[in-house]
Amino acid sequence: MQEDENNVIAIDGPAASGKSSVSSRISAKIGYLHVNSGLMYRAFTWSVLRSEIDPNDAASVVGHLNSINLNCGQSDGISTLRVNGLDPGLELKSSEVNENVSVVSAVEEVREALVSKQRDYLKIANIVMEGRDIGSVVFPETPYKFYIDASVEVRAKRRMAEGGGDDLNKRDKIDASRKVSPLLIAEDACVIDTSEMDLDQVVQAVFNELKVRGLEKL
Ligand code: DC
Repeated sequence: MQEDENNVIAIDGPAASGKSSVSSRISAKIGYLHVNSGLMYRAFTWSVLRSEIDPNDAASVVGHLNSINLNCGQSDGISTLRVNGLDPGLELKSSEVNENVSVVSAVEEVREALVSKQRDYLKIANIVMEGRDIGSVVFPETPYKFYIDASVEVRAKRRMAEGGGDDLNKRDKIDASRKVSPLLIAEDACVIDTSEMDLDQVVQAVFNELKVRGLEKL
């Protein structure tokens, strides 16, 4: 499959806005590969913490980039992540990673390295990629971009239902105010406020818009 023949559906939004559930449903329905770019930032942060590097020490964090092998691939249609051959699994969602992932992902060199891995996915598959800057920076040329939002209250409730341990406000603040590719709404993104919608309704809204934007074979 040629890179320029593949499509990207970009799903951006703040923490706990429901991006993962929506992306997972959309990708399963149309046979695209679901890639969660947040997990890449989490995997690198996990590795920084495991190596006892201070996440606020940008120079050491950048040094760590060159000393590990972060493998982002796919197996049987599911995207995979390995750090030096290890799958961090559920540790990616630990409160320690939650607490430190925003500061680590604000480092320019970290973003450059991971954005390059994110773009590589387009060489192998049609993708649904979720994140913060997918429509604005990683794949600005894709016509299929969405910004999935919800009120702070609803997002906090959704995160609590998953077990909590995540200071959403603090993460959103760092993610939206960092210098390099902050969380923002791409000019041509379709914005969906999901505060009062259930998952089926959001998925339907995305499909409707994809049709309007000309995505065939839905
Ligand atoms: O989607 P998530 O909440 O699991 O993402 C974890 C963190 O990773 C988020 O707080 C900021 C960072 N991130 C990013 O900077 N850019 C992305 N495209 C995705 C995530």
